[in-house]
Amino acid sequence: MIQRAIQLTYQHRVVFTHGAFEKSNLALCDLVADAAELGGPSKLIFFIDQGVDAANPKLREQIETYCKAHSNTLKLVSPPLVLPGGESCKNDWALVDKVWQALNFHAICRHSYVVAIGGGAFLDLAGFAAATAHRGLRLIRMPTTTLSQGDGGVGVKNGVNYFGKKNWIGTFSVPFAVVNDLNFLRTLPEGELRAGLIEAIKVSLIRDAEFFEFLKTNAERLAALETGPFETAIRRSAELHVHHIATSGDPFEYGSARPLDFGHWVAHKLEQITNFRVGHGEAVAIGMAVDLLYSVRIGLLDRATCDRVLTLISTVGFRLWQPDLDQRDAVSGKPVILQGLEEFREHLGGRLTITLVPKIGQKVEVHVMEENQILGALDDLRKRYGAASKSASAASSAASVPVAPETEG
Ligand SMILES: NC(=O)c1ccc[n+]([C@@H]2O[C@H](COP(=O)([O-])OP(=O)(O)OC[C@H]3O[C@@H](n4cnc5c(N)ncnc54)[C@H](O)[C@@H]3O)[C@@H](O)[C@H]2O)c1
Ligand SMILES: [Zn+2]
Repeated sequence: MIQRAIQLTYQHRVVFTHGAFEKSNLALCDLVADAAELGGPSKLIFFIDQGVDAANPKLREQIETYCKAHSNTLKLVSPPLVLPGGESCKNDWALVDKVWQALNFHAICRHSYVVAIGGGAFLDLAGFAAATAHRGLRLIRMPTTTLSQGDGGVGVKNGVNYFGKKNWIGTFSVPFAVVNDLNFLRTLPEGELRAGLIEAIKVSLIRDAEFFEFLKTNAERLAALETGPFETAIRRSAELHVHHIATSGDPFEYGSARPLDFGHWVAHKLEQITNFRVGHGEAVAIGMAVDLLYSVRIGLLDRATCDRVLTLISTVGFRLWQPDLDQRDAVSGKPVILQGLEEFREHLGGRLTITLVPKIGQKVEVHVMEENQILGALDDLRKRYGAASKSASAASSAASVPVAPETEG
C-alpha cells in the first residue's frame, strides 16, 4: 500500500460591502487583481438570478460600466447573463447545461472568474456548473438574500436537485471569494429579509454566547429590521458560519455530525410537508423551538434559558407554531413531522446525529431522540404558541407580501 496524506490549505474570503458596482468600490477589483498571475486583465463572466435582475433593472448596465472603468484588471467576456432563480432552478438540468454552454462558448478557463449573483438556489446552480467545468473554475459568489449572505452562500458546497431529491448532485468546493453586498437586501420582501435572522440566532446558540446577548439586547430593533443591528447580525452570522467550517475539522462533511443544522431535522420536514409554503427561516425557528423544549424535557437545558431563547425568536418576528405540525401519518397515526428524524439521518448517512444546545454558546451531539419526549415538546409548543399562531396567520394572510411557493427538491 502506498499511503500519503495530501494537505491543502484553502483561503476562504468573504468581503462585506455596500454598492459593489460603484466605480469607487474596489472590493471585487482588488480580489481579482490580487490573484492575477498572467499579466493583463482577467476574464469574467456574470450570471444573474432573474429575481435579482428584475428588482435591479440597472444592475447589468452597472456591471458593464464597472468592468470598463477597471479594464486594466477586469475583462468582461459578454453582457451579464440572466437565468431563473429560486428553488425551481435547481430542478432544471437544462439550466446547468446553459451555464456550461456559456462557459465553453466564452472559453472560460481556470484563470477566469465566474461571478454568480443571486439567492442561495441560484448560487447552488451556478456554483455547481462552475465547479464541474474544467474540474473547477474560480467562482465569486454574490449572495443576495439574508439567508445566503449569513449562511448558505458563505459555505463551501453547491448542489442541484435530482431524482426528486434535494441537492442530490453537487460538490464541495471552496469559492474563490464571496462578496456580500448588503445593498442587495433592500429589494427583498420583508419575510425573506427577516428569515436570515434565524440562522444568526442558531449559530449564536451553538457557538457564541456573546453574540446571543447582542441579539437579545437588540431584539426589538432587529424585529423592526433596523439597518445597523441587522447588518451586524448578518455579518457576525456569516463570520461564525465560516469560522465553524474552517475550524470544525470537517469542512467537507465526511462525518455524521452537522452542528450548523441545529433545529433543521424538523425544519426540512416542515418545509417539505407544506410544499415550501412555510419558508426555511420560519421552519428553522420552529425546529429549534422543538429541540430546545425537548432538551428541557430530557434535563439537558434549564427552562429559564429555553424561555429566553424562545422569547428572542418570537420577539424578532418568527411564529412558533404551524398547524401543519399536527399532520398525521395515515397508517401509524403519528405526526408526520417525526419522519424528519430518519430522513435527516439518511441524508447525512451513518449514525443518527442531532445537535442539541445544553447552554447558550455550546453544543452536544446525541444519537438517540426519544419519541415520547419529542411528542411532549410538540405539545408544549402547541400549548404556548398554537392560539397566537391562529390569530397571527389570519392577520398576516390579509397583509402579507405574496411569495411564490417553491417546488420541493
Ligand atoms: N450550498 C449551500 O451550502 C446551501 C446552504 C443553505 C441553503 N442552500 C440552498 O439555498 C436555497 C435557498 O436560498 P435562499 O433562501 O437564498 O432563496 P432563493 O435562492 O430560493 O431565492 C428566493 C427568491 O428570491 C429572489 N431573490 C433573490 N435575491 C433577491 C433580491 N435581492 N431581491 C429580490 N428578489 C430576490 C430569487 O429570484 C427567488 O425567487 C435552497 O435551495 C437551499 O438548498 C444552499
Ligand atoms: Zn438553514
